[in-house]
Amino acid sequence: MDFSKAQFEKAYGTFEQLPPCREPEIVFSGRSNVGKSSLINRIFNRKNLARVSSVPGKTVTINFYSVAGGVKIVDLPGYGYAKIARAEKQRWAKMMEGYFKSGRDIRLVVQLVDMRHPPTADDLTMIDFLEYTGYPFIIALTKSDKLNKTEYKNRLESIKTELKGIPEDRIIPFSAINGEGADTIRKYILKCEEEANA
Ligand code: GTP
Ligand code: MG
Repeated sequence: MDFSKAQFEKAYGTFEQLPPCREPEIVFSGRSNVGKSSLINRIFNRKNLARVSSVPGKTVTINFYSVAGGVKIVDLPGYGYAKIARAEKQRWAKMMEGYFKSGRDIRLVVQLVDMRHPPTADDLTMIDFLEYTGYPFIIALTKSDKLNKTEYKNRLESIKTELKGIPEDRIIPFSAINGEGADTIRKYILKCEEEANA
């Protein structure tokens, strides 16, 4: 896979609009403002593939990207932004349920959690849901560059307890600023592509 050849395809505002699943999908999920767009841009070596916003809660669509190599990248709308209206939250829930429960060929979910803080209640709900569905997933601990050495060490230690049961090699500190963790995440994506083409 050439990680630089990713292209934005389309944004969908409702689950019903989603195109049928024709290729294996790699999914990015996390709360609003966790750094999802920044991570996608870093992984695919692009400045503006996914829009980085200073105003959280903006991405309320499911965005599809195509990459050479026969897998699709799916960017889910962020959750947990307190200020959005109830109707929007319901729309979000419907989209998620629609996306995850329609038999799509989901090969990997990259679940983002802000490394600076314990997972939020919404994060834990999402992770429980992923465990329940059985989809393979990894945890990207975002914004790792914002922690000093001691904080970094402490958070990494604590998160292993907070996310008990998740194998340690699936918990990956990541920074969109200095690129920490990007290669590890790319390896997981490459493995999906290999398996998809096997
Ligand atoms: P929404 O789409 O609005 O839900 O947000 P998002 O999860 O896509 O987050 P986005 O990538 O837009 O980043 C949110 C803010 O965090 C921006 O100001 C980014 O510059 C900042 N940010 C994201 N990743 C990192 C990181 O690894 N390190 C640092 N220092 N800042 C980051
Ligand atoms: Mg975003």
